[in-house]
Amino acid sequence: HANCTMERTFVAVKPDGVQRGLCGDIIHRFEKRGFKLVAAKFIKASEDFMKTHYLDLKDMPFYGGLCKYMSSGPVFAMVWEGENIVKLGRMMLGETNPADSKPGSIRGDLCINIGRNIIHGSDTLENAKREVELWFKPEEFVTYTSCFQPFLYE
Ligand code: RTP
Ligand code: MG
Repeated sequence: HANCTMERTFVAVKPDGVQRGLCGDIIHRFEKRGFKLVAAKFIKASEDFMKTHYLDLKDMPFYGGLCKYMSSGPVFAMVWEGENIVKLGRMMLGETNPADSKPGSIRGDLCINIGRNIIHGSDTLENAKREVELWFKPEEFVTYTSCFQPFLYE
């Protein structure tokens, strides 16, 4: 894969997705696409931590409720790696509002309501870097060679 630029993105199954038993389906979609899992943990974040995570949205009317909700139960936090993964990951998620998400996307297949849209994914490379660093320490990344790599990348 000498010709491509590897990226990392932060993905988290939100408390509603965890409660609804959708972690496996979501992980499966990223695995099947060919992306490589490089870090993962199952944790209940604090409200303050979620306020930092969603700091960009601090002036939005839903910010308080969103951060409360995101800290109300466990989330499955992951870092996935692959060519162009920030953009492709967002496409796999669908639109913020599940009602605007196409069938075939995670939100278009698995949820209904904008405030319970089951999954988070970084929206830009810059935010991906910030979120990956916020959620994971360097020692939490696992270094290994994926045997799929020569068949996924030219
Ligand atoms: P996320 O960060 O969670 O991946 O979602 P996103 O980029 O698609 O959307 P964003 O604008 O970052 O909003 C974060 C989350 O806030 C909730 N939201 N509610 N009631 C509303 O109008 C509204 N708008 C956004 C959603 O749960 C959204 O995922
Ligand atoms: Mg966002």
